[in-house]
Amino acid sequence: MSEKTFILTVDSESVGRLTIDMPGSSANILSRSVMKELDQMLGELAARSDIRALVIGSAKKGIFIAGADISEIEGLVDAEDAADMAAEGQAVFTKLAALPYPTIAMIDGACMGGGCEFALACTYRVASDHAKTRFSLPEVQLGILPGFGGTQRLPRLVGLIAGLEMILSGRQWDGKKSLKRHLVDACYPHDFLEDYTQRFVRETLADGGATKVIRRRRRKGIQPLLLESNGLGRALIFRKTHLSLKKTTRNQVAAYPALSATVNVLRETARCSIDVGLRKEAVALGELAITPECKTLIGLYHIKTAIEKDSGVLVAVDPVPVTKTAVIGAGVMGGGIAWLFSYRGLSVRMKDIAWPAIASGYQQAAAYYGQLRRSRRIDNREIDVCMARISSGVSFVGFGDQDLVVEAVVENMSVKKSVLAELENEIGSEALIATNTSALSVTEMGSALKRPERFIGLHFFNPVNRMPLVEIIPGEKTSPRTVASLVAFAKKMRKTPIVVKDVPGFLVNRVLMPYMNEACRLFEEGAFVERVDEALVGFGMPMGPFRLADEVGIDVAFKVASTLQEAYGERMTLSGLLSAMYEDDHLLGKKGGKGFYLYLSGKTKPVVNDQLDKRVEAVLKKVGSRRRHPPEDEILDRTLLMLVNEAARCIEEGVVEEPGYLDMAMLMGVGFPPFHGGPLRYADQRGIGRVVKRLEEFARDLGPRFTPAAILVDMAESNRRFYEPTAAAYVESSESDSL
Ligand code: NAI
Repeated sequence: MSEKTFILTVDSESVGRLTIDMPGSSANILSRSVMKELDQMLGELAARSDIRALVIGSAKKGIFIAGADISEIEGLVDAEDAADMAAEGQAVFTKLAALPYPTIAMIDGACMGGGCEFALACTYRVASDHAKTRFSLPEVQLGILPGFGGTQRLPRLVGLIAGLEMILSGRQWDGKKSLKRHLVDACYPHDFLEDYTQRFVRETLADGGATKVIRRRRRKGIQPLLLESNGLGRALIFRKTHLSLKKTTRNQVAAYPALSATVNVLRETARCSIDVGLRKEAVALGELAITPECKTLIGLYHIKTAIEKDSGVLVAVDPVPVTKTAVIGAGVMGGGIAWLFSYRGLSVRMKDIAWPAIASGYQQAAAYYGQLRRSRRIDNREIDVCMARISSGVSFVGFGDQDLVVEAVVENMSVKKSVLAELENEIGSEALIATNTSALSVTEMGSALKRPERFIGLHFFNPVNRMPLVEIIPGEKTSPRTVASLVAFAKKMRKTPIVVKDVPGFLVNRVLMPYMNEACRLFEEGAFVERVDEALVGFGMPMGPFRLADEVGIDVAFKVASTLQEAYGERMTLSGLLSAMYEDDHLLGKKGGKGFYLYLSGKTKPVVNDQLDKRVEAVLKKVGSRRRHPPEDEILDRTLLMLVNEAARCIEEGVVEEPGYLDMAMLMGVGFPPFHGGPLRYADQRGIGRVVKRLEEFARDLGPRFTPAAILVDMAESNRRFYEPTAAAYVESSESDSL
């Protein structure tokens, strides 16, 4: 095995071939040492007069270059050092761009971050049409910007509008899209990439060939050209960009400094020389790389990677392959799950007790396909193929050869147990069984089965097409093989599986419920629904707790809250308001048109349900209290610290293995704002001691539900945190200590 990453050969026609093949790794990563080696190689290449053109490819399957080494960015604590690192990388790619003959990046696989910037510095790019060929500049997702020339070379190639879109969204472009957007000069069938690339080289070296490619690049359409070529047009582009960022970040642009910094760099350098542009890019990267937001986002990246690699079990077992699936219960969730399985190419048998229910399951699946069609990610023909994978019936016909059956009937223990017991007689001896319960005990449900070792909780979140999280809940008797199989299966469905203990509410609902309950208590004391919701949206939540309750359904929220009250007692006492809304008023939330808000037809925005408001006032009057208008910090601290406190208890009880997994579950399950990193990282950032103190104040003034979890008290006393502080955090805390 060669110790070198870059291997050069030259053929008889003087066409060089530089193969990137990082030793001992399945991916090519641009670490500092790899960049140093590249620099030396480029020095050698610049001096070669026997080369007419250089094709650059990768020896790794499915990967061109996967990106730069994130750990090197993570360790940076000084803006100047970070800017220097970017400038060093830029200098290497500038050398590549300045080679005295054309360079052709031949891309057949992931071409990400620094890898994409590498390709951008080549004279030409040709890509394969393989599904793994993906171009992306995902740096903003890590709180930085492309710092090896990406902010400069990309817009020059694809235009300002497309460049802004690619960098700010961090989205991946496949070979065909990259060709359409002029990021690559050709996109060839995967199997013929080598042959076609050789032809491309011959053609571009021939008379007029290069001119043809350059001319093609210029054909970007008249509209972007008109807009981008004058100051007024560019001002309009940046204004639109700002508005769209406000929308995608839900008015939280300031919480993601990398977004504004990217826009600023592109705005300031739109008419600059590339040298000036690169200098500005490096300085901006330096400033971003040391921000707490960057460290938080990199922390999340590591957690995501760890989850991707986690098999869910400590022993090595082979997961059961799942290709044939069935769902029992064709409601909101059953229909959604059938949609997911069929969309990912599996056959699904859907069963319910009556045909109208089955029809609504089909409607649910069709509705999700409709959303995909509207966003042009699927066409009618593909939808027909996917929908044809779903078959249905009111009996167990067709269940005999399924690999996995997911139960999604009503949230009632005795109904679920009897459905499972009946099911077990109808399926093969190796088939796996999962329940999509929101909060019921998996162990108890499994007691209805003769072979509970193949039974497990598989908790999808609503809506199934949007929520990436799946909680995997082994019961006491679930076998490791069943756990590993469902973890692998959830990944195949492109969901994020997190294994959690079988406790009431599992992880996400358990942590969320005290937060929702506390919001209800604030309302009962007189706080306005919209003020509470606005405060939490201002914190970064995708929606406030009342909008969330309406979306989830007051009935569903009530049932989950009741189960949790029964299990955890006083600290989860159900809000009287929620009980009255469900039991007396039969309000269902959005699906019934009425909840904390009214969903009036013809109105895009819901309006506050002032009937509830009047009721609160009447109750307050009856007990002789006056309406309170709690300040925003009280609203935030009461709701969020209830959530943090319960999250800490889950760590204490080992409901989930790692603080990082809990934080990721709350990000993916309820949309906890990523820039806060999750409830536990948020607690770390506020200071555990301060969190405990505030909880104690609330416990004294408002009741024992706020009593801080023992783990928090202990951590505060011994000055511990959930996460090891990064080098940057040390600098930050020592700076603030010295103030
Ligand atoms: P749903 O009420 O929309 O659908 C339940 C379906 O089960 C109905 O179509 C009903 O006819 C059918 N059903 C009842 N008994 C049956 C039986 N013996 N055999 C076959 N089908 C039967 O309920 P939804 O919302 O879909 O919930 C299903 C499960 O998913 C529940 O356990 C719920 O707690 C859980 N869940 C619900 C979420 C939500 O937001 N709606 C989120 C996550 C989990």
